[in-house]
Amino acid sequence: MLRNDQLDQWDRDNFFHPSTHLAEFARGNLPNRVVTGGSGCHIEDRDGNRLLDVFAGLYCVNVGYGRQDIAEAIAAQAKELAYYHSYVGHGTEASITLAKMILDRAPANMSKVYFGLGGSDANETNIKLVWYYNNILGRPEKKKIISRWRGYHGSGLMTGSLTGLELFHKKFDLPLTQVIHTEAPYYYRRPDLDMSEEAFTAHCVAELEALIDREGADTIAAFIGEPVLGTGGIVPPPAGYWAAIQAVLKKHDILLIADEVVTGFGRLGTMFGSDHYGIEADIITIAKGLTSAYAPLSGSIVSDKVWKVLEDGTDENGPIGHGWTYSAHPIGAAAGVANLKLIDELNLVQNAGEVGGYLNATMTAALADHANVGEIRGEGMLCAVEFVKDKGSRSFFDASEKVGPRIAAALLEEGVIGRAMPQGDILGFAPPFCLTKEEADEVVGKTVKAVNAVLG
Ligand SMILES: Cc1ncc(COP(=O)(O)O)c(C=O)c1O
Repeated sequence: MLRNDQLDQWDRDNFFHPSTHLAEFARGNLPNRVVTGGSGCHIEDRDGNRLLDVFAGLYCVNVGYGRQDIAEAIAAQAKELAYYHSYVGHGTEASITLAKMILDRAPANMSKVYFGLGGSDANETNIKLVWYYNNILGRPEKKKIISRWRGYHGSGLMTGSLTGLELFHKKFDLPLTQVIHTEAPYYYRRPDLDMSEEAFTAHCVAELEALIDREGADTIAAFIGEPVLGTGGIVPPPAGYWAAIQAVLKKHDILLIADEVVTGFGRLGTMFGSDHYGIEADIITIAKGLTSAYAPLSGSIVSDKVWKVLEDGTDENGPIGHGWTYSAHPIGAAAGVANLKLIDELNLVQNAGEVGGYLNATMTAALADHANVGEIRGEGMLCAVEFVKDKGSRSFFDASEKVGPRIAAALLEEGVIGRAMPQGDILGFAPPFCLTKEEADEVVGKTVKAVNAVLG
């Protein structure tokens, strides 16, 4: 095949890459990678490397790479009808079918799906719906949104505010004033090492109660959270967390938005994280696994309770003034239908639970005794290894030592893609659901090698 030798220069001269050190990239100090193909859990680049992608892109290629069924569904849709809008009652067979397939799989109290393009715009939609809801109910003051430190909900103006990570706020004038943050449900980083898990859950609840008291429940519209913290460190919640938080929200008439962009459609070994943790959300955010990223598509699943108010709202105010040109794009919808069918046919939700459990157990057996491994944690096809300077006192490395990024780089040298999570020295894994036990063994073996190469 003819090779374009200018591609590297064109890349550095023209392409504004997201989440990248722009100056180092322009200077040529950051390597680039031109990805050319993929199959199952592997990707290939144009330098001939074949890498085991244990982060499924950005935890999104859940069915794995190279699925011809989805590619063919996209091609067929593009040939038949590449685009029509979904305003004022328009739709396609794919978008209507997909809405039904999502509701067939969603918790019982869900009513309708609004389609967007990515997780960020879906959460923007959710906040607008929550504000509209309270205005229709005659509660114009009830507008603030509670999010958690270390939560990740996107990087728009509102969603970047909801995100509780420093890098997404710094120098962007975020968070916006309507967003307030509460304690991260992160037991390993509890303020007092002597706290039991139950005591830490009680502490998170007390922090939430105190925040609501300070701000006034009549000013707070909604609470948003991921069932398992994702980008903030891959952290399953402490025991009893979701039941206790929901009780507080109910008491104060605060809506719950479950951000299932990562956990939706099987990652925890259940169809939704809400099923997994007994969460009864008012709105659920979906994206990534909805199409396994074969085409951009997201959604806001709205509960009966919220839907009823929205319907009444349009009787009072006319059509809802919200929509994107590409809402329910037929190509994304066709990808979604084929993807959800494939997940069922290949039994991938069950495999996520089984092989994910195996990955977590073998990682724990291999690394728990390492002097610098503070915690190994996960749920389903999510796994994280957190590194510490000293285990007994739980002291962390200085960020300038870049321990997490160096271990991820050493792992890459072994041909395995993990992710150095952005805040803390945490190596994250979120494989495609088709990962096999043999591949899980390879991930663990090579992770041990990478950890030893960096930390001894
Ligand atoms: C939980 C969660 N919500 C929202 C988003 C934002 O999605 P997007 O990057 O598609 O805008 C992400 C992205 O990683 C996410 O993990």
